[in-house]
Parts: sequence; C-alpha cells; structure tokens
Amino acid sequence: MQTYKIAVIAGDGIGPEVIREGVRVLDEAARLDGSFAFAFTHFPWGCDYYKETGRMMPEDGIETLSAFDAIFLGAVGRPDVPDHISLWDLLLIIRKSFDQYVNLRPVKLLRGAPCPLAGVTEADVDMTFIRENSEGEYAGSGSWLYPGKPNEVVIQNGVFSRVGCERIIRYAFELARKEKKTLTSISKGNALNYSMVFWDQIFREVGQQYPDVETHSYLVDAASMFMVKDPKRFQIVVTSNLFGDILTDLGAAIAGGMGLAAGANLNPERRFPSMFEPIHGSAPDIAGMGKANPLATVWSASQMLDFFGREDLGKLLIDIIEEMLCEKKVLTADLGGSSTTEEVGDEVIRKLRERMKAR
Ligand code: NAD
Ligand code: IPM
Ligand code: MN
Repeated sequence: MQTYKIAVIAGDGIGPEVIREGVRVLDEAARLDGSFAFAFTHFPWGCDYYKETGRMMPEDGIETLSAFDAIFLGAVGRPDVPDHISLWDLLLIIRKSFDQYVNLRPVKLLRGAPCPLAGVTEADVDMTFIRENSEGEYAGSGSWLYPGKPNEVVIQNGVFSRVGCERIIRYAFELARKEKKTLTSISKGNALNYSMVFWDQIFREVGQQYPDVETHSYLVDAASMFMVKDPKRFQIVVTSNLFGDILTDLGAAIAGGMGLAAGANLNPERRFPSMFEPIHGSAPDIAGMGKANPLATVWSASQMLDFFGREDLGKLLIDIIEEMLCEKKVLTADLGGSSTTEEVGDEVIRKLRERMKAR
C-alpha cells in the first residue's frame, strides 16, 4: 500500500490547534479510502524550540525534511521572538531550500461563506493566485550599514531572475490553458522601473506561446481596487512574492476570512517535498482558547490530497466545508458560530464518514 510520509510542523500559537484537526482529517480520509496511508512525523520546531535551543529547527532540519513526501505546517511566530528570525529560520527557509517556487492560493468564495462585498455571489469570487515564492522582494538580500549612526542606511534588494520569472509565469499560463481561464498578471512597472518592467516583459514574451489564453495586466494598486469593486475580473492571477502575500490576505477577506484561506507551496518538479499550510499566522490574540477555525487547514489538506493525485478526496473535503458553511451549525466564532476548533474537526470527520460510506 502506498504510504505518504508527512512531516508535521505544528509551530506556534494556533498552529498546533488547527494542525491537529488537519492531521485527523487526512488520517481518516486515508483510512476510509483504504488504498493508501499517511505516516505522520511530528517535529516540535518553532518558537518554544527556539527559546530552548536558540534555533527554530536543528542545523540538519532541512536535510531531515528532505526525506518526506510533503510537509504540513500550522503557523509560526510569537510576540516574544522577533518575527524576522522565527519566519526566516523556519517557514521561509523551507520554501527556499526546497525550491517551492509556486505558492498556489485559491481565493474562492464557497457557498455559505460570508462575503463583505455587496451584491457579490460565489460565481464572482473564483480566483487562483499563483504567487512567486522563491525570490523577488523576499530574496533576503540587502545590507544594514552604519547601524545606529546618523548616516545609517538599509538596503533591501528585490531579485527578479529570468529563470525565476519565466517559470512562475509559465506555470500560470499552463494552468490557465488547462482550466480554460483568463490569466491576469499583477505588477507595478510604472514605479519599480527595473524589476516590474522586466516582469511585464517576460509576461508578454511567455504569453506569445499561449495565444489561446486571454491575458490581462494590472498595476497592483488598481488590482486591489478591482478585487473589491469587481472581483469577477480575475480568474488565474500571477504575481510577485510580496504582492501575492498582500493580495491573498485581501483575497481571504473577500472569500470568508483568514479562517478559510489555504495555500500550497509547490516544487512542481517534485525534486523536493512541497508544503501545505493555512495562510493565516499564529493568531496570538486567540491562541489556546479553542477558537481557531481549522477549516483553512482542512482546505490545505485538500490541496495535499490533490497533489498526491487524489483530487476526488480533495474535492470531497471542499464539498464538506461548503456544506458546513451552508448549514451554519458547527462553525467557529470568526464565521458567526460558537463551536470549538475540535468540534469543527469532529464535524468534518463525521461528514467524511457519512460521504465515504455512501460511495
Ligand atoms: P494572523 O493571521 O495570525 O491573525 C490576523 C487576524 O486573523 C487575528 O485577529 C486572528 O485572530 C485572525 N485569525 C487568523 N487565523 C485565524 C483562524 N484560523 N481562525 C480564526 N481567526 C483567525 O496575522 P498576524 O496577527 O499579523 O500575525 C501573527 C503572527 O503570525 C506573527 O508572528 C506573524 O509573523 C505570523 N504569521 C505567520 C504565518 C505563517 O506561519 N504562515 C502567516 C502569517 C503571519
Ligand atoms: C504568508 C505569510 C508569510 C509570507 C510570512 C509569515 C513570512 O504572511 O505565508 O502569507 O509573507 O509569506
Ligand atoms: Mn501573508
């Protein structure tokens, strides 16, 4: 029987609370299906580990993770550890080391999910963000000169390589072609006169090989306005690392909230493990209270099932989330309910059993 080895990094704050439900759901899906299994290995890495050892993960952490088929991550970050250390030395270093250059984030309004936009239906908010996830504004390149002196200067470089831009843009074109959808590039060539002019040029160049794909190009400021005023303009979207980060939180806000937003960090060539995670953070304001919504994590579990070729099970989980949103009986407070994280996990599993028995 095929067994997928999954490294679980629950992390900080609400990370362990939501990942626990995600693991239970994946385990149950495999058990009910019967044709494959998951073997989960839990790693206690994160801010507690940092406080004990001075590191977010062991020195050979990346090597350890490389033996797994995928990584399932909760969230990282705690108010008493500097964010740039906790995030760079765990989450960001994993994305980079494993060349997870595609960050695939659905911005899809499910039936029954709350939407703050007037007059907007599910059909109007149905996007897939393809965020560049390996370089750009997140290249981690720069310098800090003359710290504390009057002439102090900091430099943060954006790194846009031809290989890096071409591969993400090509990935997005392929997806748009496969799904017969339009492709929108979001950039900022009017102000970022090197990086984004280059990005736009590569978008046009690669686009010549996809005459069948209808394309649009927006400046990021206008794009954020249109995401709110007229979201149905967007289907597949490709954008840089930082713009993708910001726009997908905006996307979460128009598609049910942070408790429903998931993302897959993919190494499409499968040379390294890919990583699946909710896009929200460790939510220190609600950590330890049983209030965290685990459905974003369940959605990322669904992305993992897709990745392993079990799109049928992935879709089943989305159908279950949608049913729960419509019924409005078992939901956490962010979605207007009063259930706990665990009760929501229990309900997903109950419905999974019901649905899989009926198959
Ligand atoms: P956040 O996403 O943690 O929280 C923003 C708001 O959304 C909070 O009010 C929070 O309660 C709410 N929220 C988030 N997830 C929720 C869920 N599942 N259910 C219900 N409500 C939810 O963002 P932040 O407050 O800006 O960041 C907190 C920490 O997390 C920081 O250290 C930050 O660097 C880190 N962070 C980590 C990741 C990650 O690990 N992937 C992502 C974003 C932020
Ligand atoms: C995300 C997060 C991360 C990012 C942070 C925590 C470094 O906000 O996954 O969206 O900016 O990529
Ligand atoms: Mn983010």
